[in-house]
Amino acid sequence: MGGPSKEREVSLRSGRAVLAALQRRGYDAVEIDAAADLPDRLRREGIAAVFIALHGKLGEDGCVQGMLEWLGIPYTGAGVLGSSVGMDKVVCKRTAQSLGIPVAPDAIFIAGRDDPTTFGTTLPMSLPVIVKPSREGSTINVTIVQTTAELSAAIPHACESDGTVLVEKYVKGTELTVGLLEGKALPVVEIVPKSGFYDYTSKYTKGMTEYIVPARIDAETTKALRAWSEKLAEIVGAVGFARADYMMENHDVVFLELNTIPGMTDLSLVPMAARAAGIEFDELCERILEGASLKA
Ligand SMILES: Nc1ncnc2c1ncn2[C@@H]1O[C@H](COP(=O)(O)OP(=O)(O)OP(=O)(O)O)[C@@H](O)[C@H]1O
Ligand SMILES: [Mg+2]
Repeated sequence: MGGPSKEREVSLRSGRAVLAALQRRGYDAVEIDAAADLPDRLRREGIAAVFIALHGKLGEDGCVQGMLEWLGIPYTGAGVLGSSVGMDKVVCKRTAQSLGIPVAPDAIFIAGRDDPTTFGTTLPMSLPVIVKPSREGSTINVTIVQTTAELSAAIPHACESDGTVLVEKYVKGTELTVGLLEGKALPVVEIVPKSGFYDYTSKYTKGMTEYIVPARIDAETTKALRAWSEKLAEIVGAVGFARADYMMENHDVVFLELNTIPGMTDLSLVPMAARAAGIEFDELCERILEGASLKA
């Protein structure tokens, strides 16, 4: 848990919630805040399996997963490929598209290649758009953009997280998410942020967002969402647990991204979806841990 990413604080919350659950279940579990001495610590403390509760860069993107493969220590969640695809919104979106999963129109900004001040004139879609760093999480450095002037400020902002930026058609509608456990979709969660934008504050402050499980969508949409999520997770090898995010406008759904280490805090979506399926938090954590493996 923890680690150096911008999602460090969220990761500490996820990690501590998981740690408490595993200890309640009788595991000899310890907290490790990931730092450069991580390989030494894992060896020194004789760690038999790792529950990865790191979000964001170096933790959710395959780096820690690759290190654990080298050390021969089984770990939870996706392997190196699934983690790096999941972390990279652009690659993940192109993978989803290739599987026939609907996505919103976009343009990719690349620092050093494109000019933020003129990028708006080349967009293949009309405003509003949403500007997102390709490899980041928790809505950090994400901006909803209504004008071209706002766009030239939003791009450098996103670049604070990543030099590759996904500029995507803004979908005004309902946010939906599909948790996955052991490759199978959990009940769909509908997300209703009171502020209208599911930003960092709305994600992690109690009472700022309303969650509806199962989502108020028709059976056909539910079926499609579950099938798409399972298919994508399967193709990239997002085993254990994961979460696919979507937006729906009228009845049209578009895929946003796949999270391979979704939040595990008390307000988090996968635990909420699992609960709706009759799986309490402690059992959820235990099942994810029991699925720890080497994948390379
Ligand atoms: N095309 C879009 N149209 C409307 N809203 C969007 C769109 N893309 C993203 N959003 C909003 O921005 C939020 C952040 O986007 P996204 O889930 O892609 O990124 P993230 O920062 O990686 O989030 P996470 O916390 O799930 O890791 C979403 O939860 C959603 O509310
Ligand atoms: Mg998301």
